[in-house]
Amino acid sequence: MPYLKPERPEKVSAPSLRASKERGERLVCLTAYDYPTARIVDEAGIDIILVGDSLGNVVLGYGNTVPVTLDEILIHVKAVRRGVERALLVADMPYGTFHTGADDTVRAALRLVKEGEAEAVKLEGGQKRVKLVRRLVNEEISVMGHIGLTPQSINQLGAYRVQGKTADAARRLLDDAYALEDAGVFSIVLELVPREIAQMITERIKVPTIGIGAGVHCDIQVLVFHDLLGMAFGKLPRFVREYANLRDTITDAVTRWAEDVRGGTYPSDAESYGLPAEAAAEMKIETKKVKA
Ligand code: KIV
Repeated sequence: MPYLKPERPEKVSAPSLRASKERGERLVCLTAYDYPTARIVDEAGIDIILVGDSLGNVVLGYGNTVPVTLDEILIHVKAVRRGVERALLVADMPYGTFHTGADDTVRAALRLVKEGEAEAVKLEGGQKRVKLVRRLVNEEISVMGHIGLTPQSINQLGAYRVQGKTADAARRLLDDAYALEDAGVFSIVLELVPREIAQMITERIKVPTIGIGAGVHCDIQVLVFHDLLGMAFGKLPRFVREYANLRDTITDAVTRWAEDVRGGTYPSDAESYGLPAEAAAEMKIETKKVKA
């Protein structure tokens, strides 16, 4: 029997997300940074794949997202693109790529869309990014907003903390969401926001909210792939639920392999290649039959 690919729901696009929200569908978004992960995540039916600048934390070992460059993220976007068929592919705009003017911002976003074949970009910041969002949307680039905790602001914030905890701060978050919606974003990430405020925003705007540490009322949930699978280091934020512990699984596998090598039981004859009988006879080498 030939392998038949299972029927898959239709391709996710930026405009289709608004209709999903209207239908009350709960969609899912995960980060991915390389080809195999992208394939696995896409084939598992995840709706949105984000090549996030969390790349800096979980893959490149920078400790935060600030050092990530456009060239770095682009390499990962290209790799992920090759593994994604159905999910919407979104690329993060790294810190520094939208801080020196609208033309530079468009140039950077165009590289992610044209060279990386991302279908949308994500930009951190609320009302202060409205002009940039309008400009990008005007250039036919779909934009995902990101408010609440914006990790690229770590040097000003000092630490990753829940945002919007006072009435004033919560009102500012609401205004950020309205302003971004009005500027044309197709969705908004709400990171580390009290669930009541996330619910309020979700109910008041038409584009979907994508929550991370923002409670159950967001339209879509997102997590960092390495956090979900137990491949991150250090203390995890309370919103992360680890569904696997791949650190331990990997440690176990590589340790057993190293033991086998050191003990001389890897590779076995079946895991290596013997000299064909004719050549062995000519060279007067004794060979033994090996079970495949
Ligand atoms: O960079 C990232 O992975 C993100 C998500 C956590 C939303 O911004």
